[in-house]
Amino acid sequence: MNDPEFWHNKWASNQIGFHLDDVNPLLIQYWPMTNPSSSDSVFVPLCGKSEDLVWLATKHQDVQGVELSNIAVRAFFAEHFYTPMVMPVGGQHELFQFDELSIYIGDYFTAPIKPVDIIYDRAALIALPETMRDEYVACLKTRLKSGGRILLVSLDYPQEEMVGPPFSVPEQEVLRHFSEFKVTKLYRDEAGDNHPKRAQKGLSRFAEEVFLIES
Ligand SMILES: C[S@@+](CC[C@H](N)C(=O)[O-])C[C@H]1O[C@@H](n2cnc3c(N)ncnc32)[C@H](O)[C@@H]1O
Repeated sequence: MNDPEFWHNKWASNQIGFHLDDVNPLLIQYWPMTNPSSSDSVFVPLCGKSEDLVWLATKHQDVQGVELSNIAVRAFFAEHFYTPMVMPVGGQHELFQFDELSIYIGDYFTAPIKPVDIIYDRAALIALPETMRDEYVACLKTRLKSGGRILLVSLDYPQEEMVGPPFSVPEQEVLRHFSEFKVTKLYRDEAGDNHPKRAQKGLSRFAEEVFLIES
């Protein structure tokens, strides 16, 4: 899963169960907790073709995203009938720019992201295996201005019961990654016995959580 080919294959075969057709209700509900103003810049790591980008661009003047898959980024712009300016940057990335949105195609770790006021992480940290998460978080911190905030949507389930992604990143791990920050758990939704994910994967428990992380 840390293999780019894994994700390229997912997009090529349209196996994108993580993609939501609408804006994530948790973003709409909890974004105000980041105390956002329209001049605050935003970064969406591992953004896919998420509708959340569109919602964030209605609220902020500068929204950057990065996504490995060419298919995802081209689909995002085509599905919204946006005609972006496309330009190569730094040899390894391509920038798709349209109004408030600047989406880089290429690797998260080397993308030329300008540090921002607020980061929105949904299905990005939990998309990566444990061996990559320290490096992911270290890189994330370099993209956050001092005084910046992160809204993180994570999952908590017994890792031994399912092969990720998505991986389980429980509260203890979130606290460890962001020990120098103020971390507040805003939400936890414990799935009942009939929850499709729990039933389908045979998980003994499964919860979605939202954290506010403040530097
Ligand atoms: C689980 S999906 C989540 C997408 C999006 N955040 C959403 O909520 O729909 C993870 C995404 O990360 C992308 N990805 C994985 N590794 C990456 C990397 N190193 N750099 C950039 N994107 C990456 C994948 O192509 C995939 O679209």
